[in-house]
Amino acid sequence: MSIHKTARKITTHVLQAMKSKNEKIAMLTAYDYSMAKIVDQAGIDVILVGDSAANVMAGYDSTLPLTLDEIIYHAKSVVRAVEKALVVVDLPFGTYQGNSKNALESAIRIMKETGAHAVKLEGGEDVKESIIRILSAGIPVMGHLGLIPQSIHKFGTYVVRAKDLEEATQLKSDAKLLDELGCFAVVLEKIPAKLAEEVSKSIDIPTIGIGAGGGVDGQVLVIHDMLGITQEFSPRFLRRYHNLSEEIKGAVSNYIKDVRSSDFPNEKEQY
Ligand code: KIV
Repeated sequence: MSIHKTARKITTHVLQAMKSKNEKIAMLTAYDYSMAKIVDQAGIDVILVGDSAANVMAGYDSTLPLTLDEIIYHAKSVVRAVEKALVVVDLPFGTYQGNSKNALESAIRIMKETGAHAVKLEGGEDVKESIIRILSAGIPVMGHLGLIPQSIHKFGTYVVRAKDLEEATQLKSDAKLLDELGCFAVVLEKIPAKLAEEVSKSIDIPTIGIGAGGGVDGQVLVIHDMLGITQEFSPRFLRRYHNLSEEIKGAVSNYIKDVRSSDFPNEKEQY
């Protein structure tokens, strides 16, 4: 029987059970109340209040400018809408790297002020102390390896990561570390499918892929990309389920036409 029939709310334990039963985990981003409500009602397992909000909500060209206050605002709106999904919130750039006390304070603010269920952060060995400290406060942590957008200025480009042996070896060791430390899941972004599958088989916690092939335990996409609201971002891994940008433009131009021609409002649309 599907886990969804027996559990009302998705918890980190449900995700672990899904991996054990080979049930794939579906995760999407959301940043506001209305979209989160739709996504939750559609039956998503995990909603990520991602720092991709910097790109798709605020129009920045990287995730770096997003602040803790801003992600907290988005997360509060999402949590108000959600009844079933697990809500995970990204720790923004500069709120956890290199200072585990700062990391704990940032994570506590997110949990206290938003009511979310977990935080996500990028990196492995280099953020080990931050992960340990956040976990010690009873806050579930999701890891993120491979292409980690907060390090874009170190990489220089958004190309596929861990194609060479050295980086692949480091990634495997980081994934093992996150599992051993007690993270409840890990996102694997834009790495070779074979490597992602190998990692998924070698660790106990669920792996959630984005551009990491089908051998992982679940998938995540940015909602604006999969709905076709964003048009300019078109990587190979992205499957578009809709072309909302065109639909919205069509609806808006019909509205403009109706206003200009005085067709809107009609007799029934007034008091
Ligand atoms: O911020 C985000 O949306 C993410 C996903 C792409 C995994 O981290």
